Amino acid sequence: MRLSRAVNLADVREAARRRLPRAVFDTIDGGAEDELTLHRNEAAFRDLLVTPRPFTDVTTRSTRTEVLGQPVAVPVLLAPTGGARVAHRHAELAVAAAAAARDTVYVQSTVTSYDLESVAEAAGGRAWYQLYLPEQRAQTPAMVERVAAAGYRALVLTVDTAVFGGRERDRRNGTVLPIRLRPGLALQGASRPAWAVDFLRGAVRLPGPWSAAGGLSVRATQEQILASPSPVTWADLARVRALWDGPLVVKGVLGPEQCGRLVDEGVDAVVVSNHGGRQLDGVPATVEALPAVVEAVAGRAEVYLDGGVRRGTDVLKALALGARAVLVGRPYLFGLAAGGQAGVERVLDLLHAELDRAMALTGCATVADVDERLLTRAGRPSGG
Ligand SMILES: Cc1cc2nc3c(=O)[nH]c(=O)nc-3n(C[C@H](O)[C@H](O)[C@H](O)COP(=O)(O)O)c2cc1C
Repeated sequence: MRLSRAVNLADVREAARRRLPRAVFDTIDGGAEDELTLHRNEAAFRDLLVTPRPFTDVTTRSTRTEVLGQPVAVPVLLAPTGGARVAHRHAELAVAAAAAARDTVYVQSTVTSYDLESVAEAAGGRAWYQLYLPEQRAQTPAMVERVAAAGYRALVLTVDTAVFGGRERDRRNGTVLPIRLRPGLALQGASRPAWAVDFLRGAVRLPGPWSAAGGLSVRATQEQILASPSPVTWADLARVRALWDGPLVVKGVLGPEQCGRLVDEGVDAVVVSNHGGRQLDGVPATVEALPAVVEAVAGRAEVYLDGGVRRGTDVLKALALGARAVLVGRPYLFGLAAGGQAGVERVLDLLHAELDRAMALTGCATVADVDERLLTRAGRPSGG
């Protein structure tokens, strides 16, 4: 399967699978332990059925919306994914440029191969920054200061990685993060020459310390975070809130319990996320968890969802249940692997076209028209 012939996201995944060494494909594609949650994320979308709605004039339609006051062409944002350079040498720069070209938001991970400033510039003002807190918390102010100076519009604090999930495909493959060309991978790379050439080319511009005052280098911080992530506490959240003037997003919420407090602490948006099934296996699918979070937040913050979004109808379903936007992770990494920036753009284009079509067929001229009445659950009679 070539990218140019891909008609949906499953085809893009297949194109990536053919280009990447097995261990690299697995590290992107895989989930934690039995991958129950990984599969459930997608299955739960399939269990929700959409009701067509004729007799509505949908000749003129728009998928445009706003996230944290920022206009986007489509309610599909690009989730933070660490280590994108294993997919393509232009990595974060290509993803950021695709977000700019398609007028959406790229959430840049703390674990990156390019410096923050270049990525922010490539995104043309559309980048948000995902923060993993360093073990040495004293370093946080310098990180946050630099993120602000680089022009990132929002800070996304990921809270579901007290430790990293049990990624058994990685263990079986002997994959250690960050991925480097160790002998096992070099051997697999021999049968994936296009990938191997790309992986070995290109400079990585990771600058030295976070601030002119010195301290740990960006690379050292990343390696420390990958080696030993640390739990985020309420006190950490309060400190980050005090350090960051712009919109603050918390990523990794799956239940309603903490939502009231999150909003009270000054959080502007939450991402209903189980890290794409890569952390605790056996937790609910995000689309199952979404309605209770929307109810608990009660309009006091924006709610987004990620995990298992593979179709425009999935986007429609998440919006119908109260999400303002969704994020995708693996799909655009596969696009990146298969075709660099153009591949990421293709993924966004496919989702955009599918969402537009689904909106037309459900009588929605704008995303504001998408509501819960569009949905029924498989096996149950329509709610109307
Ligand atoms: C390879 C990979 C790396 C990821 N790295 C990060 C990260 O650095 N920070 C983060 O908050 N989430 C990370 N995630 C999780 C994504 O942000 C997102 O929650 C998830 O991919 C959504 O599920 P989906 O892949 O089914 O779209 C990563 C996911 C993948 C697949």
